[in-house]
Amino acid sequence: MSTDFHAKSSTQDCRLIELERFGSLEGTLSVVENGAASPLGYDVSRVFYIFDTPAEASRGGHSHLMDYQTLVALSGSFDVLLDDGSGSEPRRVCLNRPNLGLLIPPGIWRTMENFSAGSVCMALAKNPYDEAEYVRDYDEFLRLTASKR
Ligand code: TYD
Repeated sequence: MSTDFHAKSSTQDCRLIELERFGSLEGTLSVVENGAASPLGYDVSRVFYIFDTPAEASRGGHSHLMDYQTLVALSGSFDVLLDDGSGSEPRRVCLNRPNLGLLIPPGIWRTMENFSAGSVCMALAKNPYDEAEYVRDYDEFLRLTASKR
């Protein structure tokens, strides 16, 4: 599997995406669809969500060789720490609105922390689950991004 993304990735490539809101007195609806109208720039083949997360938990702690993922705080809030291996201070993004997505391309080490009570994190992934495309060892991540330092 290609490691190209790790050699080139930058935290500046992680994008906040404002999802359109359809509001009424009865509540608000946001939508993500595939195809030309996709706000993400890729088609979603997998949705997963994380809930019941204790405030002190740290989740994530990995990068992807291939997968693009967009994270949304469907409820509550949490922080995402983004690290491209360049040695710069990680970029911290707070997700706290259900119509705000954070698109994370491959090659970025992400960690999630500071979960509020009742928070729900939804991830919209480009690819089906494949454990082989995860980098879960930070030393390996540093090896894959060594050319940036
Ligand atoms: P993991 O990636 O370790 O979660 P996080 O990085 O947020 O802490 O995933 C937890 C478990 O769920 C792990 O055993 C793999 C499994 N899993 C799937 O089976 N399919 C999936 O699409 C995902 C994202 C995880």
